[in-house]
Amino acid sequence: MKIRYLGHSAVLLNIGEHEIIIDPFLTGNPDSPVSPDEINADFIALTHGHGDHFGDTMQIAKKNNATVIAIAELAKHSASLGAKVHAMNIGGSHKFPFGKLKLTIAHHSSSTPDGKYLGDAAGIIISSNGQTIYHAGDTALTYDMKLIGLQFKIDVMFVPIGDNFTMGINDAVKAVEYVQPIIAVPIHYNTFPEIECDPQEFADKVAAIGLKAKIMEYGETIEI
Ligand code: NI
Ligand code: MN
Repeated sequence: MKIRYLGHSAVLLNIGEHEIIIDPFLTGNPDSPVSPDEINADFIALTHGHGDHFGDTMQIAKKNNATVIAIAELAKHSASLGAKVHAMNIGGSHKFPFGKLKLTIAHHSSSTPDGKYLGDAAGIIISSNGQTIYHAGDTALTYDMKLIGLQFKIDVMFVPIGDNFTMGINDAVKAVEYVQPIIAVPIHYNTFPEIECDPQEFADKVAAIGLKAKIMEYGETIEI
């Protein structure tokens, strides 16, 4: 599995012949290393409907005839805009051609800018070929993360650290302690003034509890 970090909460996965993009907020992100035209994803997985996650979903979906995977209300909203969708809900998993995807609990809100309800916010777990990644989405620290750590051996956890809208660094370190991933990658920081923070502080605090954090550069790829 190849994992490319595209900034904010956007993560691109290459698994065999499949390309999956999570939370493709590219155009509105001044530091994005790619434009949506360059994305050839056949699946788009969404944690929730806020603009900094839904982002370029429709453009990418239409260009590639990609399937949008999301909680039922957000899937329905995407379908109403013309996307092919696969609706799910929290706690459910489904086997896709690229592997198994499960929606997990996230404590956060989700609506369009004008207030249309888009279902609950979610985290996403993707397992393929014995490897598992967990994208926590936008969320507060939840004790349910401990359950994720017990149920799954997480290779890479994407964890929001920017505070204000999600966990801040100290809560994010606690989340990493609950989940016990091989590698924790900080996301959702420094994109806006409200979420400015130092990812190195997160990495140092994760190291202090005996775990490993990796600060991925925008556009950087790792292979697991
Ligand atoms: Ni959000
Ligand atoms: Mn967000």
